[in-house]
Amino acid sequence: MVQSFKDKTVWITGASSGIGEALAYEFANEGAKLILSARRMDELERVKEGCVKAGSRDADILTLALDVTDETAMAEKVKAAHAHTGRIHMLINNAGISQRSLCVDTDMETYRKLFDVDVFGQIALTKMVLPIMLDQKEGHIAITSSVAGKIGVPYRTGYCAAKHAVMGFYDALRAEMANSGIRVTTITPGFIRTNISKYALKGDGSEFGKTDQNIAGGMDVTACVKVIMDGFHKGKPEIAVGEGREMSALWVKRLFPKRLFKMVENVPKPE
Ligand SMILES: NC(=O)c1ccc[n+]([C@@H]2O[C@H](COP(=O)([O-])OP(=O)(O)OC[C@H]3O[C@@H](n4cnc5c(N)ncnc54)[C@H](OP(=O)(O)O)[C@@H]3O)[C@@H](O)[C@H]2O)c1
Repeated sequence: MVQSFKDKTVWITGASSGIGEALAYEFANEGAKLILSARRMDELERVKEGCVKAGSRDADILTLALDVTDETAMAEKVKAAHAHTGRIHMLINNAGISQRSLCVDTDMETYRKLFDVDVFGQIALTKMVLPIMLDQKEGHIAITSSVAGKIGVPYRTGYCAAKHAVMGFYDALRAEMANSGIRVTTITPGFIRTNISKYALKGDGSEFGKTDQNIAGGMDVTACVKVIMDGFHKGKPEIAVGEGREMSALWVKRLFPKRLFKMVENVPKPE
């Protein structure tokens, strides 16, 4: 069955940039009502304008500042999101930050920050939205994990650990939600051309500050979200998206894990 998003209320986190922003335009184009969240309100307003250009009515889009690490403020944000249309049909847990540093150079504080954003922030928001969806007896929760959620690569020990963690969490949640009317989708992107490496953390917690060679050579973000939307329409539990060698690495890991462990030793230093 093809899932339609016309008039559905879709909440996207990390909507101020990259994959979340591009997803917002796709949903706007399909007639969804949107809640756009991230920390930077000015960027969210810019994305909202783009959604209106893509076909949304201004009143159908709520921009809602949200820091996913701020659990104290989260309950009020969930109330505001729910009040937008009275329903939340879909939550896309897409906010995230990456890492560019070797383990030996990475402070524990940096690992904690990665986990706060990429793992606990996602779980906290999901736990608050889940009762609403259970009441509705319908809903769809997605998480943007990563190929790094299936494969461990150098310079991303914390990011890989965090993305593996959410992969496990949402796979388990999918099983728990069977027969509840709530669908769970994990998204596994490879390298996609976004701001992800600019805001990635170095070992001391400062920003990496540039687009590295992998991201610069990655898939176009609009092409990426077309694949994701196709997966949503088809109700896929897992959506892999990318076009580089990292996608074949998923198969190598499954079939020849020792070969994969050798291959990733040659991942170059990000520059
Ligand atoms: N690009 C890739 O190659 C790639 C590959 C695999 C997976 N992913 C995943 O895809 C997701 C989206 O990343 P992207 O590639 O689109 O990168 P991006 O362009 O840097 O976007 C990241 C988004 O996350 C938001 N964000 C960061 N920290 C946040 C926080 N504490 N609270 C709320 N929002 C926060 C940012 O908004 P504000 O700064 O305004 O808060 C921004 O909207 C991430 O989960 C990332 O790990 C990306």
